This record gives sequence, C-alpha cells and structure tokens, in this order.
Amino acid sequence: MEKFYVTTPIYYPSGKFHIGTAYTTILADTLKKYKQLRGYDSYMLTGLDEHGQKIETVALNNGKTPQEYVDEMAKQSKELWAKMNINYDYFIRTTELRHEKAVQKIFEYFLQKGDIYKGSYEGLYCMPCESYFTETQLVDGKCPDCGREVKLMKEEAYFFNMKKYTDKLLKYYEENPDFIQPEFRKTEMINNFIKPGLEDLCVTRTSFDWGIKVLSDPKHVIYVWLDALTNYLTALGYMSDDDTLFKKYWPADVQILGKDIARFHLIYWPIFLMALDLPLPKKILVHNWIMMKDGKMSKSKGNVVYPEKLIDRYGLDATRYFLLREMSVTQDGLYSPEGFIERYNSDLCNDLGNLVNRTISMVNKYFNGQVPEYNGTPNEVDKDLENFTNTQVKKIEKLMDNYDIIMVLQEIWSLISRTNKYIDETRPWELAKIDDKEKLKSSIYHLIENIRKIGIMLLPIMEDTSRNLLKQIGISEGLQKWETLYEYDQLKNIKVIEKGEPLFMRKDIEEELQYLRS
Ligand code: ME8
Repeated sequence: MEKFYVTTPIYYPSGKFHIGTAYTTILADTLKKYKQLRGYDSYMLTGLDEHGQKIETVALNNGKTPQEYVDEMAKQSKELWAKMNINYDYFIRTTELRHEKAVQKIFEYFLQKGDIYKGSYEGLYCMPCESYFTETQLVDGKCPDCGREVKLMKEEAYFFNMKKYTDKLLKYYEENPDFIQPEFRKTEMINNFIKPGLEDLCVTRTSFDWGIKVLSDPKHVIYVWLDALTNYLTALGYMSDDDTLFKKYWPADVQILGKDIARFHLIYWPIFLMALDLPLPKKILVHNWIMMKDGKMSKSKGNVVYPEKLIDRYGLDATRYFLLREMSVTQDGLYSPEGFIERYNSDLCNDLGNLVNRTISMVNKYFNGQVPEYNGTPNEVDKDLENFTNTQVKKIEKLMDNYDIIMVLQEIWSLISRTNKYIDETRPWELAKIDDKEKLKSSIYHLIENIRKIGIMLLPIMEDTSRNLLKQIGISEGLQKWETLYEYDQLKNIKVIEKGEPLFMRKDIEEELQYLRS
C-alpha cells in the first residue's frame, strides 16, 4: 500500500488558536482524508512547539511554570482539534522525553561532524521570533518576519555551518522543481536570503533556561528552531529505540506551513536534513495568511477570530469550507463577516443545499423515492452533462493531487452550478406532466448520480455534510468510493429518504452580521 505523510507546523502555545492556525490544520486534514479515500496508508502529524523564551515569558505572565502552562495548552489544543474533526495520527509535544533525547543526539552528531562549532555572537535579535538578523536583512530597521523592534545582543554560542551546504541546497532546488510550492517562494528565498550570502546560524542560547540543554555543554540551550524542526522526524521515532514509523513514513509527502515561516522550512530544514544524510520531503507547501479587512489579526487590534465562534453557530463544515475557499495560492485570504455569510447563504444553502433538496423531493414525487435505473441511452442533454461531469472529475482529481484545494472547490462548485442548470434544461416537472417517462427517468437518474459524485468529492473537505448528503440520497458506503466517480451506471436499487433535511439553513444577513461583529 502506498504511504502518505503530511505535517502541519507545530504551533506555539502562546494563546488560543485563531482561524489562521485552524486553516493550516484543516488543510492538512483534508489532504490526509483525500489520500485515505484513495486507499493510501496516511499519517498526519501536528503538535506543539513548547520551548523557548517566548513560551517561558507567556507562562510566567499567566502565573504558571512553563511546564504547567504548556500542559494546559496541549489539552486545550487537542480539544479544539477534536471539535474540528481533525484526524491526526500523532500530536507531538517538544517537551516529551523521546523528542528531547533525540534532539540532543542530533546536536552532538552535528558537533562531532563539525557542522556545529563554538563561537560568539553579536547581532540584532528579535525576541518574539527568537531569531538573529543581519543589518541588511532588516526591513526599515525592524524584524523582517514580524516587523517588531530588534535588540543588539552578544553571547557565547554554537553555530551551524550553513555556508557548507549553500551550493548543495541551490542544486537541490534546481534539480527538484516540484520541491517548493508555489514556485515563487523559492525565488524569494534565493533572492532575499541565499544570494546575499547565507550566514551561519546561531543554534544555542544562554540567556534563558526553558529548552533542551546541550548534552556536552549544559549551560547552553538548543535554539528553539533546531529543536522544533526536528519534530517531523522524532515524532516518528527517529533516533529512538523504535524507529519503525520513521522507516515507514519518512520522507514526508507534503509539509504545510504559512509564509512567515517559509525561510526556516525552505532553507534551514533542508540543510539540517542534508547534514543528517536524510532524504528531503517531497514537497513543502507554503500558504498565505488569512487577513482581516484592517490587516493582520492581532490581540491588540481586537480583531482576532476564533474558530469556535463560527463552528458553534454555523457548524464545522461551513467553517472548513469558508477557510479553504478563501485562500488562494498567491494571495492572502480575506475574512469578513459579510464574506462569511455570503458564502454560507449562496454557496452552501442555495447552490449545494437546494440542488440536493429539489432532487430528493422530485424522486419522492415522481418515483415514490425509488431512483430509476440508468437506461444506457443518454440523450443529447444528458450526454452533455455526462461529458462535463467527467471532465470536471478528472480536473478535480488532478487539482487534489496537486494540493490545490481552493481550485478544487471552485471546480466542484462549477459542477454544482452545471447540475442545477441541468434541472432547468430538462424541466422534470414538465416531463411528468406530459408523461415522458424515459426522459424523466434519465433526468432524475443523472441528478442523483451527479449529487453522489459531488458528495464523494466533498468527503475530505466536509465529511459530516457529505455523509449526511449521501445518506439522504440512499448511497451506501460501498458506493462512496473515489474509483466509482468515472462511472455513470452505478446506481441500482437506490431509495432516497422520504423527506430531505436541509443541509444548511438559510440565515438572515443582518442578524448574523450582528452576531459575527460582536
Ligand atoms: O511559527 N493565516 O508557530 P505559530 C494563516 N512554532 N496562517 C497563519 C496565520 C494567519 N492569519 N497566522 C499564523 C510557529 N498562521 C512555529 C512553527 S514548525 C517546526 C514551528 C500560521 O504558532 C503560520 O504561518 O506561530 C504558521 O504556519 C502556523 O500558523 C503556526 O504558527
């Protein structure tokens, strides 16, 4: 059986997770569910990045020890992922012993190989990002990643010899054009960081305590990014007594992360892997950000949106749909209450919900709920729908394989519109009036077939809604298979439910805007 290993970043437990954090996780979960549907042995990893000065400070501000604080946050995050039906296989915490031991071993290995050496560091440090920058990397004198003030600091430290690997990395980029998606992120890395000259990376700190200690020199704490990035390996048991999962799943098939941490994953991470003589992930997928109308989400602006707010009122699937639908590959996605309600009412209630409801009521009205069987001789209108559907299915499958979920949703919705249009083209109510049984049967058959296909393709994205939809049109699990999407004669002895239940209830715009803005 082919395997599929997908990872999210491990999140900083510095506060409650917002819809931006939720987006990455939903995307990874969707890809895992898709691959499962295609018969892959799939494994998804997520977790928490629990060390570092930032977490130490947040914990103290909350009147807790760092360990107490991260324990509580781990519990909270697991609860959120359960609420969001996130089907991860392992939740790694960087404070777990197995991870800590492996990171120490990796550090010693680099040291012994000469990839890590001892020196001293003076540089411009951004505390929230826990990163040093050179003068030239700053943007308007501030941190290029988060835009905050940087401070001049000096300490004795260990360094990773990045220069040694620069050419190898560039060669790898060149020889593996599919490694980074979208491609312009690679150009960004080359122009902004590699061409100006890659500095050796400072990989230890002495200014605080909350982290993994260097085994051979314990006054040094291992830099949080070296600690964090290796989680993708240690979660599978790399450098532990049992590395069965590592042998099975590494290299990752796709690693997903947001644009702000692209540099760490596109430069340092591949270099660490090269230094470990390990294969690189097959793909690193960098997504943009979910933005508010007034810019970034931030606590100080008071514009942070938490997933619970949307899920509790509109359901998980509407929330998943919205987030996946709004993020393009090249641009930031926009969250606005108006946009959310518009998508809910228009895409989910009108387009999808009505198609299903209208069709179920026609099957009940004209055929007592029994779906007529395929007659094998589609007329022109039917053939046109079949051709369109087959083309869409192929297109959608390709987009799914390319992890392009926003386009997948656009194409599924164009199939929904086309199927709605088919109702207007065939006008079943008129066929019933003139008693054209053959055409009526064919029209209803094609509608149910298309709804079945739409339901299956939506399974990885909106699992509950899709299962409910498929159940309403009487499709058993055996027919909920991706392989059946190309067929047009699958439905035999199918009975729809007597009264369709709306998948989504239309909402009053003003009332909802009030709720969403509160
Ligand atoms: O960076 N829209 O963790 P993190 C979309 N611990 N994505 C967003 C977002 C938004 N508005 N805001 C944040 C870290 N993200 C490290 C990772 S991995 C070895 C270590 C995304 O909790 C962000 O881009 O700060 C990142 O991919 C993820 O949330 C976690 O961010």
